[in-house]
Amino acid sequence: MGAVRIEGKPIAQTIKEQVKQQVENLQQKGVFPCLAVVLVGENAASKVYVGGKEKDCAECGIRSIIHRLPESTTEQQLLQLLAELAEDETVHGILVQLPLPQHINPQTVIEAIPPEKDVDGFTPENVGKMLIEQDCFLPCTPAGCIEMMERTGVEIAGKHTVVLGRSNIVGKPVAMLLLEKHATVTICHSKTVDLAEQCRKADILVSAIGKAEFVTKEMVKPDAVVIDVGINRNEQGKLCGDVASDVEEIAGYLTPVPGGVGLMTRAMLMKNTLLAAQRQMKS
Ligand code: GUN
Repeated sequence: MGAVRIEGKPIAQTIKEQVKQQVENLQQKGVFPCLAVVLVGENAASKVYVGGKEKDCAECGIRSIIHRLPESTTEQQLLQLLAELAEDETVHGILVQLPLPQHINPQTVIEAIPPEKDVDGFTPENVGKMLIEQDCFLPCTPAGCIEMMERTGVEIAGKHTVVLGRSNIVGKPVAMLLLEKHATVTICHSKTVDLAEQCRKADILVSAIGKAEFVTKEMVKPDAVVIDVGINRNEQGKLCGDVASDVEEIAGYLTPVPGGVGLMTRAMLMKNTLLAAQRQMKS
């Protein structure tokens, strides 16, 4: 048997094509959607992610401006750049790639992004609005997980869902979005007692803990939907998710790594950037 793979590529491609068409509509009205990305330092994974965003923007007809700053950049310098981008009416979306170097406080930096340009959905205003289900920018990875399930026809309402991880970027927001879709939600983390037993109860298991091959088939209910958010390297240096390969034998649906959630995250960023440009349009 084996799990059905939920491929991110065709879903992300469909979303990007839809974005591209709407970008063209905006361009005809004289609005040229633009995303500014700020990368500080030399984190190898971050460099790859930023390169991916640049490529996606080009595919969608979105202008991208990439600011690559040295590791030695001070918090003040970064805040100064963000103030300029905030003022610049030709820039619709601003994204600061995380993690930032140790000497920079990420929360201070996030709060320097105007909520209407916060295409990551990380500012307190957007996080708060998400919680009370008001119109806002949803964080890209959690929104991508939901979109992937919905476009595959996975029923969320009423399901027992277990989220592994409680980060501000993925664990907490994906749990809130699942709740909004009427799932019953359990959030597990490093202090959870008998984590495997909790996981085994999940109809939908979302893993976002960043530990290579952590979720094994003993932790998965037969026919469960398993969404693997992890991007890790195993002992052989190979790119892998949080979910071990033997889970394929027992799950109903499984997202691959690479080629799964990561591509959805990128597509959702394009969608948010388009939305930012549409909302900032002066009529
Ligand atoms: N680093 C890892 N994931 C993300 C993300 O979604 N947004 C930003 N800005 N940085 C990240």
